Amino acid sequence: MYIDTHCHLSKEDYNDIDLVIKENKENKVNRIIVSGCTKENIIEALELANKYEDIYLTIGYHPSEVNEITDHDLELLEEQIKANSKVVGLGEIGLDYHYGKEDMELQKELFRKQMNLAEKLHLPVVIHSRDATEDTINILKEFPNVIGDIHCFSGSVETAKIYISMGYKIGIGGVVTFKNSNLYKVVEEIGVENIILETDAPYLAPVPVRGKQNSSKYIPYIAEKVAEILNISKEKVAEITTNNAVSLFDLK
Ligand code: NI
Repeated sequence: MYIDTHCHLSKEDYNDIDLVIKENKENKVNRIIVSGCTKENIIEALELANKYEDIYLTIGYHPSEVNEITDHDLELLEEQIKANSKVVGLGEIGLDYHYGKEDMELQKELFRKQMNLAEKLHLPVVIHSRDATEDTINILKEFPNVIGDIHCFSGSVETAKIYISMGYKIGIGGVVTFKNSNLYKVVEEIGVENIILETDAPYLAPVPVRGKQNSSKYIPYIAEKVAEILNISKEKVAEITTNNAVSLFDLK
């Protein structure tokens, strides 16, 4: 059994959600954690989790939403988390200096506020960090009681080891299957004990479906690549990464 620890699922991208869930099951992807990270798609994600047993959620405001979010929205987020037992973490939250360099200070403020909320509610966080490694690490260090995962990790072996030493898991997705991906070295060095699997669907479909719309059902392709790099069986990768996800997100 597999868990897709990070995906986006919206009627805007998938017109038949029943079919998505059915195909996931056929591919042994029995649980998925949908990330709701704008005001609008948090509402949709909550509805989906209500309807489908297999769907869990992380919710939180993405750094690209920084100019939309008021303190009132943060209060609303807290209420939504408290009212829904299927919310298992906050995210994706973090810093994006690739697209949002002009908002750096505001992004850091929003990130800190949501880290505070995670600490208060004893929930793990799902971190989005793009071109912002140093500031991300520094802010995470301010919250030593919070753990989580580094979503769609694409940094160096050294950076991965710093996050791991702080109690974080490394989210490995379809990029690991791409030719010339440096994730090969990262996976080899950190081992399966520190990894959770994710698709980030509908984005970043793995080889051999690269370029198509991604879906949680493709998680086994990512597991297969990790197994190949570490020279262990795909079943072992499934077992350990699933245990990692169950324990990080405290899934029942
Ligand atoms: Ni994402």
